Amino acid sequence: MLSKLFVVLVVCWGVESFPDGAPVDACVKDRPNQPNHGQHRTQPLDTLPYRVVASSSTFGPNTPITVTIDGAEPFKGFFLQARSIETNEWIGSWEQAPNTTIHPECAAITHADPREKTRATLVWKAPANLHGRVYFTGTVLKNYSTFWANLIAEAPQEPAQLQLLG
Ligand SMILES: *[C@@H]1O[C@H](CO)[C@@H](O)[C@H](O)[C@H]1NC(C)=O
Ligand SMILES: *[C@@H]1O[C@H](CO)[C@@H](O)[C@H](O)[C@H]1NC(C)=O
Repeated sequence: MLSKLFVVLVVCWGVESFPDGAPVDACVKDRPNQPNHGQHRTQPLDTLPYRVVASSSTFGPNTPITVTIDGAEPFKGFFLQARSIETNEWIGSWEQAPNTTIHPECAAITHADPREKTRATLVWKAPANLHGRVYFTGTVLKNYSTFWANLIAEAPQEPAQLQLLG
């Protein structure tokens, strides 16, 4: 375990950022949804300068759900993962979007270039044979040292919950 961590640290050392997105071992590393960016740690989520919004949290077979990252300030990167609300397992798949890299082995999508962005629109697709609920979690990076990890995309409330509230 230590030697694996060491290798990851060495690989990252001296690299200004992962210009082509989080590597696939982001799927399995020890701190889930935290970039391995040296000593840098996440910013408090209540200072998040971006809106990360999913169009829904419920799905039927093959249902597409759009996840949008919107920034008043530009961002360089992101890493988002789809997880089942019921089981917390990785679920579904992302459609290829411009300048993104997909890690199908953990239902994750990341940036593929280091340019500054003000918006990313990503489309996730539910499995072919399933109804359920999903949430989208991950990281948005302003730059190598400043990022917000473990965020969860806002999603519309389910009609049943809205009725309870109303
Ligand atoms: C993707 O990259 C191309 C080529 O560099 C660029 O023109 C386009 O605006 C980028 N699209 C997004 C969504 O970043
Ligand atoms: C990263 O962003 C933070 C917050 O805006 C800023 O203070 C810092 O100088 C930036 N670092 C780099 C390397 O651009």
